[in-house]
Amino acid sequence: MQERRGSVQKRAAPDQSRAPLPDARCGSRQQPLYNKRMNRRKFSFADRLIGEIDKAIKVLGAPAKSSREVPFVAGDLPGLAPDQAARSVRLMRVNHAGEVAAQALYQGQALTARNPQIVAAMQNAAAEETDHLAWCERRLAELGGRTSVLNPLWYAGSYAIGAMAGAFGDRVSLGFVAETEKQVESHLHEHLGRLPEADARSRAILTQMQHDEIAHGAKASSLGAVTLPAALQSAMRLSSRLMTRSSFWL
Ligand SMILES: [Fe+2]
Ligand SMILES: [Fe+2]
Repeated sequence: MQERRGSVQKRAAPDQSRAPLPDARCGSRQQPLYNKRMNRRKFSFADRLIGEIDKAIKVLGAPAKSSREVPFVAGDLPGLAPDQAARSVRLMRVNHAGEVAAQALYQGQALTARNPQIVAAMQNAAAEETDHLAWCERRLAELGGRTSVLNPLWYAGSYAIGAMAGAFGDRVSLGFVAETEKQVESHLHEHLGRLPEADARSRAILTQMQHDEIAHGAKASSLGAVTLPAALQSAMRLSSRLMTRSSFWL
């Protein structure tokens, strides 16, 4: 009897060696069970609204956490003269405001993007923008400066623009990313020329940001970004000028 029960148990045991291995690749036909369960979950409009408000509160009200170290500058650094520090504070406040807007832009676009590969690319870029936000925030604190009081306005406006761009389809949305990153890269180039020569720490941060923004733009282009009409490019430049000029003082 014992022997018979043992053989039944043996037959009932699944043959693990033949079971297919879960394939974690995005878009594959076989996905791990936890993904299947997650995919089945439906979020109501209220759930998503609360999620988006939560993200906005975190960007605007909580210290940003970076996944990468602040770009390092070796050796002892000379102190900045008061007028140099004041100039650095204003410029880094503008850059911080730009990163608040970038967070909102990517969140808005990820909300309306359709292709999972594009959603993933936007979320990846948004994570690097969080590093930029944290680095600018930290540098501002080191310099004894404050962030812009207009940040909630930039967040709300950029979020609406991002969601609207996404609603026009993924290629337009990517075109918007590519153009934004191109303009941000040229803005950072200009700021590197305006920062005091002695402010090596701010310079190292902006240099790494510039490198990342170029990569974000290239990624958007490689995924099929369209070139936006010249009038829209000019409107984007105008709104970014409004943001940079007002955040410089406020
Ligand atoms: Fe950025
Ligand atoms: Fe970027």
